[in-house]
Amino acid sequence: PYPVYARLREQAPVLHVPQIGMWLVTRYDHVQHILKSPDLFSSSRTPALEQLRDPRLTEGVEMLASSSLVALDPPDHTRLRRLVNVAFTPRAVQSLETRIRQLARELVDELARKDSFDLMEDLAVPLPVIVISELLGVDPARRVEFKRWSDDLLLGSRLDGHLDTAEIDRVVASRREFIAFFHAMIEHRRRAPGDDLLSDLVRAEAERDALTAEEVLTMALLLMVAGNETTTNLIGNGVVALLEHPDVLPRLRAEPARIPAFLEEVLRWRSPVVMLVRTTRRPVTLGDVEVPKDAVLGVLVDAANHDPAQFPEPARFDIERQPAHLSFGHGIHFCVGAPLSRLEGRVVFEELLARVPAFTREPGPLEWAPSFGLRGLKRLVLRRGEPL
Ligand code: HEM
Repeated sequence: PYPVYARLREQAPVLHVPQIGMWLVTRYDHVQHILKSPDLFSSSRTPALEQLRDPRLTEGVEMLASSSLVALDPPDHTRLRRLVNVAFTPRAVQSLETRIRQLARELVDELARKDSFDLMEDLAVPLPVIVISELLGVDPARRVEFKRWSDDLLLGSRLDGHLDTAEIDRVVASRREFIAFFHAMIEHRRRAPGDDLLSDLVRAEAERDALTAEEVLTMALLLMVAGNETTTNLIGNGVVALLEHPDVLPRLRAEPARIPAFLEEVLRWRSPVVMLVRTTRRPVTLGDVEVPKDAVLGVLVDAANHDPAQFPEPARFDIERQPAHLSFGHGIHFCVGAPLSRLEGRVVFEELLARVPAFTREPGPLEWAPSFGLRGLKRLVLRRGEPL
């Protein structure tokens, strides 16, 4: 998409595309301005939902669209955000390192024994699901269902209309299961609270009346969903970066302390989240384009991350950059899970580089998952052989 982004940035940096009912924004300065101006650009998802082609797909997501953290504006956003911030401070997250390393080691040891493995299925998918399940205090043994439920919840936000009736039925049923599961877990915590994030949310509901029952549920669903495919994609895209830039791997092996810098460049180079959505609260001018009130903006973070005005030679993968990328968003909605996913990414690459000897990719094109808004690989089969 990068040549397309470049043309858009130069010729139509704010482009109305009636076919998808959106205004696409591709320049770094515009994207940053939009994300840091919630008074002008709302995070409410209601107008975007109205554009879903099949109204049945709104079932189960309208709640997330109306009362989840990521879809709220101040003051509700401020109240909810304060509650989850404490669980994800760098300090709180740091305490998880030992457990994350243990998990990463188990998964990496397992795949290192095989002649060939699917990096996605064997490592990038399970690790974040297990970590967030354990944090929330839900049974990680059900991770295959969690993964399916998260994927199905995201599916409706694809707006792509390619789902057939049978698929829509399956997705609707899957979402009902997801919601019913969390309803039951929350009920259980209300009776017997423990030492986990779900119990903390239930305590906030009871003690301070800071959360409504619906907000407890949507927060749990959001946390389950928001950190999964994104962190999975960070890991997968990181391996793609290594495969495509053979000079990087030996540098990281020699100096693992550069892994965090490498991950920041991976985030910029192939952002797991391609697009964020905002709605104008009143008419606004972006560059020389007048955008009317209630316009739905497709805020292309991925395009902004490749804007040469901000990142010289944007196509070049350079771990020295220290890029001010927008892959975790910007401003009040800046990703709550950023410290956690950075930690997971660092530990995974430390373990992978330390324990996996030489591997090579199966020949053939990369299989990107069909997704609107997110970007990551479906499969990445590696086999023993030439150095990774
Ligand atoms: C928000 C990306 C991992 C939880 C966001 C936003 C982005 C993002 C771009 C801003 C959304 C907006 O402005 O509309 C990512 C990426 C990740 C990642 C690229 C991994 C590489 C995680 C993890 C968790 C998480 C691990 C949770 C455990 C959240 C939540 C929000 C959020 C709750 C909403 C924050 C708010 O609205 O105030 N994330 N995320 N994310 N993320 Fe992440």
